Formats: sequence, C-alpha cells, structure tokens
Amino acid sequence: MSKIIHRSLRGTLPVAVSGHGVTVTDREGKAYIDASGGAAVSCLGHGHPDVIAAMHAQIDRLAYAHTSFFTTEVAEELADTLVADAPRGIEHVYLVSGGSEAVEAALKMARQYFVEIGQPDRSVFIGRRQSYHGNTLGALAVGGNEWRRRQFAPLLIEVGRVSPCYEYRDRRESETPEEYGARLADELDAEIRRVGPSRVIGFVAEPVVGATLGAVPPVPGYFRRVREVCDRHGVLLIADEVMCGMGRTGTLHAVEQEGVSPDLMTIAKGLGGGYQPVGAVLVAGKIIEAFKRGSGMFQHGHTYIGHPVGAAAALAVQRVIKRDRLLDKVKADGAYFAGSLRKALGAHRHVGDIRGRGLFMGVELVEDRASKRTFDPALKLHARIKAEAMQRGLMCYPMGGTIDGERGDHVLLAPPFIATRAELDEIAARLAAAIDSVTASLRRAA
Ligand SMILES: Cc1ncc(COP(=O)(O)O)c(C=O)c1O
Repeated sequence: MSKIIHRSLRGTLPVAVSGHGVTVTDREGKAYIDASGGAAVSCLGHGHPDVIAAMHAQIDRLAYAHTSFFTTEVAEELADTLVADAPRGIEHVYLVSGGSEAVEAALKMARQYFVEIGQPDRSVFIGRRQSYHGNTLGALAVGGNEWRRRQFAPLLIEVGRVSPCYEYRDRRESETPEEYGARLADELDAEIRRVGPSRVIGFVAEPVVGATLGAVPPVPGYFRRVREVCDRHGVLLIADEVMCGMGRTGTLHAVEQEGVSPDLMTIAKGLGGGYQPVGAVLVAGKIIEAFKRGSGMFQHGHTYIGHPVGAAAALAVQRVIKRDRLLDKVKADGAYFAGSLRKALGAHRHVGDIRGRGLFMGVELVEDRASKRTFDPALKLHARIKAEAMQRGLMCYPMGGTIDGERGDHVLLAPPFIATRAELDEIAARLAAAIDSVTASLRRAA
C-alpha cells in the first residue's frame, strides 16, 4: 500500500519509470502519448538532452544558495531573458517554484503596491467565474471554480466576481463577438463600481482559460476593453499565464495576441517544462519603483525562490524554444492539430465545440449538440474518458463542471511543442476512439 496521499484515495496509479519525447512509459512497459503535457507543462516533451545537460552543469557548480545571502548568475540571466521577451512595461521578475506560488506573490505585490503609494483602502480583487488560479488560499479565493472553493470558502478573502469570456455558451445570437466582449467589459466596470473603485486592487484573469473551461480564448477586443476599464479606475490587470503562457498559444505570452500589457503576469508550467518546479511573476516597472521609493522591499519570500537548478532548467527550456524556432512550429502545427481534431471529432454527435489556440486545445462534450445540453454530471463522463484514454495509451486532461463547477465536460489537450504531425494525428485518433467508446457505452446503458 502506498504511503503517499495521492490525488484520489481510491484506485491505484500506474508507476511512471521513463520518459522520452512525447512518450511516458510505466513499470509494466506500457507507453502513453503525453497529449496534455501532464497539465500543460511538458512543452519540450520528456528527456530533452539540452535541458538535462544544463541542469547537470548547474548542480555540479552550485545546487542551492539562499536568496537572503546571494544571487546567482543563472537566476540573473533567466530574469534578463524573461524581461527582454516580456510585454511592454514589464521590467522585473520574481522567481518562485510553481503556479500557485506565483499567483500568491502577485496578489501580495499588488496589495503592497497600493499601500506603498498611499491607497491602503484597496483590498479587494475581482476574478472571473470558471477560472483557476491555484490551490493555495489566496489563489483559490480569486479563482472561480465553485467545486474547488466550496468547502474552503470560510477561509477565503472577499473577491468580486464577473463572467468568463466563454463565447460558445454565453455570446447571444444577436451579438457580434466584439459586442459580446464589450458587454463583458461593461460588467467588469459595473462590478468595480459595485465594490467601490477606491477599494479594488486588481482584476485577475487567464488570457486563455485552461483547466476549468478547456482552452477558451477571449473574443477579439475583450482584453483591450478590460485594460481600459482597469485604467479608468486605477485597478491593476493581473494576467495569469501559468497554463496558457510561455509559448503554448504560439506567442511567448498569450496576452501579446490581445495587444495589451498587464501590470503583473504569472508564469510557471511551460517556463521550466516540468524539468524543475519553477514559476515567476513578471512585474511592471512602476510597481517596483513604488517599492524602491517606499519600504525598499517586497515583503514576501520562500526558502526556494530563485533556485539555481530551477533557473538553469527554465533558461535551457527557453533557449531551446528560441534556437529551434518552436513558437513558429506551435503556430503552424497548432493550426494543423485543430484540423486533425476537427477531422476526427468535428462531426461527433457528442462534441459541441472544438476551440483553442496554438497547441492548447479544448473539446467540449455535450449530450445534445443542438441544445448544448450536458451529460448528467453523476455519470462523470470526463473521468470515464480519462480512464479510457489511458487504457488506449493516451494522456489527456479531461475535467467536469465546465459551465458552473458542476455541469459540463471537456477535454484539454496541450501536446509538447516537439510533437510531430503524425503524433498529433495519432492523438486526435486515440481521443476520438476513447470518446466514441465511452459515449457509445453510455448510450447503450441508457
Ligand atoms: C492558470 C493557472 N494558474 C495557476 C495554477 C496553479 O499552478 P500550480 O499547480 O503550479 O500551483 C494553474 C494550475 O493548473 C493554472 O492553470
């Protein structure tokens, strides 16, 4: 019996023993195509020799140095690279060990900024329903997935809430995508006014919503209008790119495609590609200027921030992405992959929507396409598809509660950037077979 508290205390997991390219192999010798990069992490696949060599070299030189005593060349170099490639206005980097840590740091930085500039009454964040920002208490509070929050709600800070940008279900037939985006920006404006503009710290949003909605990009113009609303009220825009960032959508940062610069941006998963636990907050110059003029510090810190091996892994991953022109590949192969998925699943009676950007795709499942009626949540369609896909040697990332934390099912796909087109076709084919098999057996049982 395992002594580990696994994610589920029921059932057993296969034991992963090796990984190479897009494939993970278990102890029984069964191979799985990693079509989701775990949870949109493994952007370079598994066992990349350049990343492993960089980590070895760093460990041989220096494995750890506490950040209250030293900085390191490798962490400085990573920060320089991240700032050089960041959206306009971003001038600083705070290195952490994962996505939730990045979000916690961003929230505290945003709050401290207003304390430093003499606006201490600002204490409320606004987030969107059906967003996910992590499982630590601050991140869970700003996240909008009711199922994840419910039992912890008494422990969470007050957060204002607005609708996600979820065109498939929420755009009215009478609206253009731009009008829909404008309506949502107006909703944010109204929520800021409801809370009280002088009380709001920031608006937190995933530019392309990942885990809880299934790779949903915004409609054109939405983020530009959101930026205007934030500016109107002096509210910070915090882009959570932990999942959708670092090349996943075909540009290094997803917000680049929206033509806006956030004040704070969180990155993680694809930053280190799973080779090390590493994340970061990218921070606008004005925030650190205020800290310098004021207290002279960011009142935060963890033992492992700026870890040299994490920095070495992240730096190596980012160098490979540049050297091998992988962002161009993600753009081109993302379009190809969308085509493969449409060919394999577009006409399926239980596939309501196929959406996404780059190599970040979502498939939303419905019982009935015309009415978009969902499957009964008690059937746990998403869990059945995950199990069936694993049976067929495919790792994908299905999730339930797409619409409101309870109803709806989707499958998230985030294959490694290095996947070949033949591998992308194989992913689409195996996923279609898994969905077909599960939905057919549910129809037979009905
Ligand atoms: C958008 C987003 N933010 C934050 C997190 C939390 O990251 P981590 O699981 O590394 O703490 C996730 C994880 O899925 C995420 O998708």
